[in-house]
Amino acid sequence: MYFINTLSSALIVISAVWTTSVIGVEQVSINSLPAVNPVKQPWIWPLPQHWDRGQKTLDASHIGFDYSHHNSILSKAIKRYTDDIFYLKDDYPMVPYNWSTTDSKITGQLRTVKIILDNADDTKLDLDTDESYELTIPSGNKARATLKAKNVYGALHGLETLSQIIQWSPENRRHLIPNAPWSIKDKPKYAYRGLLMDTSRHYYPLEDIKKTIETMAWNKMNAFHWHMLDSTSFPYESKAYPELSKKGAYSPKHVYSAEDLAEIVQFAKERGVRVIPEIEAPGHSTSWGYGIPEIVSCRDKVPYFGYTVQPPSGQLNIASNKTKEVVHAIVDEFVDIFPDSFFHASGDEVVYDCWSNDTEIAKYLKDNDMTVQELFSDFVLEMQDYIRSKNRTVIAWQESVLEYNLTLPKNTVIQTWDGSDGVKGATEKGYRTIVSSNNYWYLDVGFGKPRSNPYPDVAGAGFNHWNRMYSYDMRANLTSSEIELIIGGEAAVFGELIDHTNFESRIWPRASTVAHVLWSGYENPEGEKLTSEDAILRLFPWRERMLLRGTMASPLNQGFCTRNPLDCFQPPE
Ligand SMILES: *[C@@H]1O[C@H](CO)[C@@H](O)[C@H](O)[C@H]1NC(C)=O
Ligand SMILES: *[C@@H]1O[C@H](CO)[C@@H](O)[C@H](O)[C@H]1NC(C)=O
Ligand SMILES: *[C@@H]1O[C@H](CO)[C@@H](O)[C@H](O)[C@H]1NC(C)=O
Ligand SMILES: *[C@@H]1O[C@H](CO)[C@@H](O)[C@H](O)[C@H]1NC(C)=O
Ligand SMILES: *[C@@H]1O[C@H](CO)[C@@H](O)[C@H](O)[C@H]1NC(C)=O
Ligand SMILES: *[C@@H]1O[C@H](CO)[C@@H](O)[C@H](O)[C@H]1NC(C)=O
Repeated sequence: MYFINTLSSALIVISAVWTTSVIGVEQVSINSLPAVNPVKQPWIWPLPQHWDRGQKTLDASHIGFDYSHHNSILSKAIKRYTDDIFYLKDDYPMVPYNWSTTDSKITGQLRTVKIILDNADDTKLDLDTDESYELTIPSGNKARATLKAKNVYGALHGLETLSQIIQWSPENRRHLIPNAPWSIKDKPKYAYRGLLMDTSRHYYPLEDIKKTIETMAWNKMNAFHWHMLDSTSFPYESKAYPELSKKGAYSPKHVYSAEDLAEIVQFAKERGVRVIPEIEAPGHSTSWGYGIPEIVSCRDKVPYFGYTVQPPSGQLNIASNKTKEVVHAIVDEFVDIFPDSFFHASGDEVVYDCWSNDTEIAKYLKDNDMTVQELFSDFVLEMQDYIRSKNRTVIAWQESVLEYNLTLPKNTVIQTWDGSDGVKGATEKGYRTIVSSNNYWYLDVGFGKPRSNPYPDVAGAGFNHWNRMYSYDMRANLTSSEIELIIGGEAAVFGELIDHTNFESRIWPRASTVAHVLWSGYENPEGEKLTSEDAILRLFPWRERMLLRGTMASPLNQGFCTRNPLDCFQPPE
């Protein structure tokens, strides 16, 4: 058993080197309860593809940056890391850093990081953005590190990695880089690494959304899927149809203006995160009808059972031209606000009876000799074509192709959610796929079903424990050509039981496991499986680091386990 005292005695040697500078500084004695974290991998989350490290210890108290590129994303990021992140101090760490793998003497100082971008002008964020980077930290005195990337987004990932290599040493009262020299070559396994947030069921202030995006960026996630609209409230302030939010938002304060959204898009871009808007339609659309009643069928029918899977009932009136006009206007406004090449057109969870029991729609179907399924299909295809006409790639929830059997253009991206079979279904049909299987990657399930809902809680309904999430292999049961079609995945946090008070602890650190799978993949470059035994040894400290940075990530287990993860670890069922 290793005890902290072993660690402290090793560090006394280091502090001797700095006696002059530590005079007058109160010596900190950290807690001496057992803490054993025998991790063999670096404390970097997600784990880089290639890493090499040595045994020297460098002082990292004053890192300067050397670059000639004029790129405001880069200069702002350097300022952010220098002001807010590199130099955080944790005098009483729950998981003391294991210094036994590094020399106890400080042999040099990291003075400068030289940043070299191949193309500093390219700031487009898309599926083909090259996010790779190389970080080299030599071990000599006055060491000059190099961070090379194709573009600024690779550099952001490199800065994040550097920030996680730096350790505050309470005993030395300085920031150190253990295990120099470092050589890291890194890039993501999957191009799309997302998180879904739902601002209709509960409203989140802009600051909550920014904080979520910021924490995503630390986890090297790059896609914020904004499920903005749903049945419960319409928080978007449309310019063309202001009545939608005037009457459909929870209150005049529970709204996002176009300017608010542009601010989020810019904030996210500066952190290498795309923002993908979703227009939930034609299902889950009650809230549109408070402002414009004629565009919603079966609105607020009670009992709602039979018309919707969740109160309140209401789906867009798919027979009305006015509906199309309004939907087109919202698409136009979103296209102006959100520059992303992806646009989520939704198309999930409709209940046909809502429409077939609507007298206007029933008449329309009769007059036109159509089935409700055909009318629905026409509506969805027309809406998607309209979005495509704006030069956007359409994302659709899995039902469109797996349940409603729509034939969508092959460049459509299918997002799967309803159990893990959907991944097979969508890729078998040849669609590029974003995986968010609810039985593994939904963060909002497992808290019991809301009392008012006669339907069972969403599939599985079990809580998705970090280990279940980490261990989910999206490739299960797929052929190699089907696997190729997976462009990435998303952790999803629908908002029934989540709002400003608890969103951070619901999302983090569990979403970090999805981030890890999507960045690092399932095997290291030598083909060895990345195990959850190793992951937990790094996830505990990563959660602590997120806390230190101000994100209220929830505990993964008792404090004892944070300090002694292997004693508590249970292999996945
Ligand atoms: C520190 O790391 C070494 C080498 O991996 C390991 O043997 C030892 O148990 C670790 N000590 C602690 C306190 O975690
Ligand atoms: C809708 O109408 C059909 C046929 O009139 C009826 O059988 C069904 O129960 C109705 N659905 C609801 C939810 O009322
Ligand atoms: C709805 O639009 C279609 C196509 O533009 C048109 O043929 C039809 O007459 C319109 N219906 C009404 C009720 O205006
Ligand atoms: C359409 O989108 C692609 C990819 O985002 C972009 O390269 C192209 O310039 C766009 N074309 C037009 C006409 O906007
Ligand atoms: C779509 O196809 C599936 C599988 O063939 C079938 O079970 C389902 O009933 C079809 N759905 C519709 C709406 O036709
Ligand atoms: C793979 O297929 C098997 C057999 O149908 C099934 O039991 C299992 O759940 C599938 N795995 C995933 C992750 O979908």
